[in-house]
Amino acid sequence: TRRVRTRDLMAAKERGERWPMLTSYDQYTASIFDQAGVPVLLVGDSAANNVFGYETTLPITADELLPLVRAVVRATRQALVVGDLPFGSYEEGPAQALRTAVRFMKEGGCHAVKLEGGRRNAAQIAAIVGAGIPVMAHIGFTPQSEHTLGGYRVQGRGDTADEVLADARAVAEAGAFAVVLEMVPGEVAKRITHELPIPTVGIGAGPDTDAQVLVWQDMAGLRTGKAPRFVKRYADLAGALTDATRRFADEVRGGEFPAAEHTF
Ligand code: KIV
Ligand code: NA
Repeated sequence: TRRVRTRDLMAAKERGERWPMLTSYDQYTASIFDQAGVPVLLVGDSAANNVFGYETTLPITADELLPLVRAVVRATRQALVVGDLPFGSYEEGPAQALRTAVRFMKEGGCHAVKLEGGRRNAAQIAAIVGAGIPVMAHIGFTPQSEHTLGGYRVQGRGDTADEVLADARAVAEAGAFAVVLEMVPGEVAKRITHELPIPTVGIGAGPDTDAQVLVWQDMAGLRTGKAPRFVKRYADLAGALTDATRRFADEVRGGEFPAAEHTF
């Protein structure tokens, strides 16, 4: 077995094979997802919410994210690991973007980087790709610009479909190897997927994209409470962990743990 390459994902699109992607931020989940055959893992800036407890993705820094990138890379053998460039680390221009991307490759050891924005960041994508670093783009709803977009809202409804389409074309032309489509109408995602030569990765973008991504804590039900409509929970990790924790606590309080077999 060897690492998945960007050209494998391109070939999958040509064969009409869909693939899954998950976020991961630590060695245990990375190793489980890798061995379960998930070909692409994203160390998302969603670690801001899902690891560090920030309200939005805006505060997380490269210094916070890079150790998580390293952990995921170290724990995997097959998955292509994508490091997500944090807000503020690439918007100033191609030079800043390239500098951050190089940090992610050298210090994080990941195999590709991701950044948000279509036409407005096409020059950044081109500069990074020009340095030999694969870039995954991210358009539609882009959480780092939620204050401009007016909160968590579907992008590309009605007349604005052309805007998302123009962003999709721009990132493909700039050399991105794949593009995340977040919260766009299914019909718009379908059209982009047919038109673009590169794989599309949907999240809240319907069933017709080449790939699907979810935040792992959403997929596995570790995060509780109201989830966005596009989330499907495949397990109840929060419930399982709560049960285990209660039993451990009860057994400690009751003197049942540790038993003789746990004792030297
Ligand atoms: O940071 C993240 O988790 C993401 C995915 C949802 C695409 O950008
Ligand atoms: Na992200």
